[in-house]
Amino acid sequence: MREMHAAFGDAVSFHSVMGKGIAVFEASLARDVFAAPPETFEPVPLVEALFGGSAVIAVSGDRHRRLRKLLNPPFHGEKVRGFLGAMQRAVRGSLGVFERAARTGSPVLMTDVSQAMALDVILETVFGAGDLDRVAGRATLLDTIGAFSPAIVGGQLLHKAWFPPWRRFVRARRRFDRWVGELVAQRRTRGAEGLGDDVLGILLAARYDDGTSMGDAEIRDQLFTLLLAGHETSAIAMAWCIYHLLRNQGALATLRAEVDGIGPDLAPEALTKLRYLDAVVSETLRIEPVVTDVLRTCREPLTLGGKWTIPPGGLAAVMLASILRDPRVYPEPERFRPERFLEQRYGASEFVPFGGGARRCLGAAFAQSELAIAVGEIVSRWEIELASGSPERSIRRNLTMGPKHGVPIRVLGPRARREAGGMRVAS
Ligand code: HEM
Repeated sequence: MREMHAAFGDAVSFHSVMGKGIAVFEASLARDVFAAPPETFEPVPLVEALFGGSAVIAVSGDRHRRLRKLLNPPFHGEKVRGFLGAMQRAVRGSLGVFERAARTGSPVLMTDVSQAMALDVILETVFGAGDLDRVAGRATLLDTIGAFSPAIVGGQLLHKAWFPPWRRFVRARRRFDRWVGELVAQRRTRGAEGLGDDVLGILLAARYDDGTSMGDAEIRDQLFTLLLAGHETSAIAMAWCIYHLLRNQGALATLRAEVDGIGPDLAPEALTKLRYLDAVVSETLRIEPVVTDVLRTCREPLTLGGKWTIPPGGLAAVMLASILRDPRVYPEPERFRPERFLEQRYGASEFVPFGGGARRCLGAAFAQSELAIAVGEIVSRWEIELASGSPERSIRRNLTMGPKHGVPIRVLGPRARREAGGMRVAS
């Protein structure tokens, strides 16, 4: 991306296996893509093949608008606040591994810990672990995630029954659908009052404007999408956050002082309101974008910067990673400096780790809360250090980019926290 941008400038025409189009590397051009009416774009067939024909991520135009209206409530405002306690329980549950690591002294991979955390957060808040067999639930979700391999996400050429990774994916998707089908059937037997207040329950109760509700297949496609879109992304961001804090001891000290100020219980809502913690999360998402670019297929002509027009059938690619490292917007872009988010507010097409426009990440507020709770809990309660002096490099995983070595850390032991009054309190 960097080479393309340096050689050709802020808008570059390209020809790829997905088709021809224009890639934009700058915020005002990104705004032209994000602000275009949703009818300008049509579904990307690969996304439909992977997520299912009624998944929010696969549909477009009016169908997308109706579905987003139904899906937005559990991911915004009051409802997300209602999930904070469950997020914290899931995070604390996964930190048992730190106790064992502190006893044995063996290094742990931060990505293993964060993947377990992100999985439990989804299990609790989306599928509602309260009334399901957690062991079977975790196994089904892990099997589904594991089958979503790089071999099938790059294109549809190998989506064939003779190709083992595709067969594995189809089998895993069937098992996932059966498992969700059973959950849904159980909930429905309990009647309207017993649908539950997790995402599944909220979706079962939701109604379109015409009074109809989502069918079972539609619900399954959404839950599959939420799992795939919301698990690895959050887990990678969590691991990067810890990595950058451990390499920037000044930022870590400032963050700990702020977190200590809310008292030893670490009330989850208080964590999500901490400004420096929020800035640390934003700076991590900026410097290590988990999703590097987003793609739209044009149904209508789309003009960019008043100069270049993408014809119907052409692609518009927004290079999120380049925009997030643009020195014109973020001076010294290679430096991890959370303070920049306290000094300045960035526009919607400048701070783009969650994409933008009508398709902006549905789980953005959810993910930011989850990250604040996980990072707040870890830095406040544990003394940890990087187990390797070598810098991590971001490599492609499947739809995402993540740390090549998984951020190995050593857990030194529980941390003695400094309370606001200056006393030290053993955790
Ligand atoms: C740090 C974590 C995350 C990052 C960086 C991230 C990033 C993104 C990006 C870049 C997109 C594409 C936006 C576009 O096309 O303009 C997206 C879409 C989406 N994300 Fe996230 N995401 C994260 C977490 C989550 C979580 C936790 C969930 C839900 C539990 C979620 C659900 C979705 C869904 C459903 C879409 C598709 C939206 C649509 O097409 O209308 N994401 N995400």
